[in-house]
Amino acid sequence: MDPNPIQTLADLERVALSRVDKVTREYWAHGAGENITVRENASAFDQYRLRPRVLRDVSTVNMTTTVLPSTNASPALVADFPVGIAPSGWHKMAHADGEAGTAAAAKALGTAMGVSMGTIVGEAPRECCSPEAVRDAGGSAVAFFQLYMFNDRALMADILQRVQKAGYRTVLLTVDTPFVGKRVAEIRNRPQLPSFLTTINFGTLLGTSDGPEDMDKKEKRTGSLHIDNSLVWGEIIPWLRATTSMQIWLKGISTAEDAQLAVAHGVDGIVVSNHGGRQLDLCVPTLDALPEIVAAVKGRIPVHVDGGVRRGEDVFRALALGADFVWVGRPALWGLAYDGQRGVELMLTILREELKLCMGLTGCASIQDISPTCLRLVGSSAKL
Ligand SMILES: Cc1cc2nc3c(=O)[nH]c(=O)nc-3n(C[C@H](O)[C@H](O)[C@H](O)COP(=O)(O)O)c2cc1C
Repeated sequence: MDPNPIQTLADLERVALSRVDKVTREYWAHGAGENITVRENASAFDQYRLRPRVLRDVSTVNMTTTVLPSTNASPALVADFPVGIAPSGWHKMAHADGEAGTAAAAKALGTAMGVSMGTIVGEAPRECCSPEAVRDAGGSAVAFFQLYMFNDRALMADILQRVQKAGYRTVLLTVDTPFVGKRVAEIRNRPQLPSFLTTINFGTLLGTSDGPEDMDKKEKRTGSLHIDNSLVWGEIIPWLRATTSMQIWLKGISTAEDAQLAVAHGVDGIVVSNHGGRQLDLCVPTLDALPEIVAAVKGRIPVHVDGGVRRGEDVFRALALGADFVWVGRPALWGLAYDGQRGVELMLTILREELKLCMGLTGCASIQDISPTCLRLVGSSAKL
């Protein structure tokens, strides 16, 4: 039998993107401005080379990782390996399996998925599965619900109540989006983008009860609905705390200063992210932001990272620089477009096996063995 032609995520990207139309391809691949941050998120990894250690008994390589620490209310969420799926919208653009297929793949591989708020804004029969359907498909693997804060607090409270009831344990507030970035490809392709991407279906967001009075109220509410870009630390974190008993995580931290503020405000965890380069072009690549954030947090809360992770060796390098867990965004969409749920499983399997091999070949038998001393900066003779 011929070996699988998809051996790397680069193979998967090439084949998957050749199967979708130009508008979809650009919607996924491009970011803000000139895509400099999209590119640098990935190329930042190549500043680091690996320092393999030998004769260290790697007969068993244990990749088990804690994703969510235990709380009084729930046990720790432990993954079989330290790679999860970052929230992204509209999975049915890639494959009919949609977010439920992605969630089932995360569950099958024993890891975690973050679910985009898009699942509420455009749920079935549009281009997304509902948050409940995704949770049903992924069970405890589906622990994070990603939230954009709109300016209607009553609506936000309803959404939080709904997803908590559906079994989500963590609200992942995306904080890098007070405005939507200047995504040039999306602007150019707007007339051809599916309507759900250009006119968010707030009717769905607001629920489906629609007596004439409700419809009237809905219209009034949707008319003024927009992302709340007046949020500040001292107000939004206490509001979330008072509104939900889910853990509160922030996605989109890029500096030590903000990481310190997150700890000071009692946030439960952070994701170092620049939205895959889709918001602010020319910002610091996430891998370069990671060390100062890890130093500022000092182990007090978990630090996850996403952006440009395309190989098991990238996961290894992010862990070596102090990340507790790593997320991938676009690769899940490539997997879905390639072969639905099975394609996402293939993508995760490639990363898992590459990481395992990398750990074995660098003399790391467990995640705890991966440290800055495993890396060397290109052009430098010193270890980190
Ligand atoms: C097509 C697409 C849609 C996305 N949608 C969301 C979203 O709804 N909410 C969010 O917080 N992040 C969203 N993201 C950002 C991802 O969660 C993640 O931060 C990013 O994709 C990581 O970079 P990578 O794609 O290089 O792995 C999206 C990314 C892509 C590519």
